[in-house]
Amino acid sequence: MNEHMRASDILPASEEQGSNLTYFAFAKPCTAEAVIAPTKAVRGALPKVLAGRYRIERLLGAGGMGAVYRARDLLSEQFGEPAPYIALKILSEDLADSPDASALLYSEFALTRYLRHDNVVRVHTFEVDSDCQRAFITMELMPGLTLDNFLCERPHGLPWDELRDITLALLDALAHAHARGVLHGDVKPSNVMLSDEGIRLFDFGLGQAQEGILPGLPQLSRERFNGWTCGYAAAELLEGQPLSASADVYSVACVIYELSGGKHPFRRLPSTEARNQQLERELPAPLNLPVHVWPALRAALAFDVADRTITARQLRDAFTVTPSRLQRWMCWRKG
Ligand SMILES: Nc1ncnc2c1ncn2[C@@H]1O[C@H](COP(=O)(O)OP(=O)(O)OP(=O)(O)O)[C@@H](O)[C@H]1O
Ligand SMILES: [Mg+2]
Repeated sequence: MNEHMRASDILPASEEQGSNLTYFAFAKPCTAEAVIAPTKAVRGALPKVLAGRYRIERLLGAGGMGAVYRARDLLSEQFGEPAPYIALKILSEDLADSPDASALLYSEFALTRYLRHDNVVRVHTFEVDSDCQRAFITMELMPGLTLDNFLCERPHGLPWDELRDITLALLDALAHAHARGVLHGDVKPSNVMLSDEGIRLFDFGLGQAQEGILPGLPQLSRERFNGWTCGYAAAELLEGQPLSASADVYSVACVIYELSGGKHPFRRLPSTEARNQQLERELPAPLNLPVHVWPALRAALAFDVADRTITARQLRDAFTVTPSRLQRWMCWRKG
């Protein structure tokens, strides 16, 4: 973490407060070359049609980096496309001037495009509107509900069959990303969409390419920016360590725990604070989770990265194991 950011500057003081929101901080002195060199000094409000092609229809959601709109692609509509609808993610006005923020948006685009998986959102293009000088991504419009909204309807968690299907798809997406050398950096319920077509992991805005992957990407290291979601970020990340696949495993384990019983494992406290309070000692197995899966999920929830010895793929595999009769009998005996 650099001198301009300290976790204590950013972490909210009380539990639940802001625990679902992504926090961003950019290093103040901006020495990086502008990835998009602005040609016009004045930036305008969001036009109704971006890049002469995408008509903004309505706001779908807003977060730490910007806003996501539903839009109509007028060009494809002109060619008779029956469903010319897309989603468009654009930087917020206050970040629009920051070359770092534009680089981050481009990085989100490039990392997502690099992944080809049924359970990862598909991105189309990265563009800059020449009038308002704002960078944006176009991507598939995902129908459905994000998992945080879905969980509001299921306060006690999901029955095993449903839980298994969603978890397998989510872990498949994450394991695929890790196998391709892409780290997500912000796995949380509001970054997972659930629809009739299944699960889609999205928002790789805090993602990073592991070394050697996508070498041409503007390398915006966590020396220059930092971001996380308090209730889902692994302790080592909050303490300034670099993002790792293991940190993603902690975050996804929190999501799975929440899906299993309706509650976050550590009351959405920052993991550093949950660790100080030794909350893992009394962590109960969620009711809807079969006992034979619990050791794997528990390992994924370890605060200490050295104890978090499980990968996304291994956690996924734990959800596919059918317990032997002996294991079932032992679980039944344990109650
Ligand atoms: N492709 C899409 N189709 C439909 N809705 C979307 C799409 N992408 C994003 N959204 C909606 O917009 C919201 C914000 O998107 P996203 O998470 O990418 O933005 P963000 O600024 O990075 O948010 P945060 O920083 O809070 O994670 C999502 O939670 C979701 O509701
Ligand atoms: Mg998001």
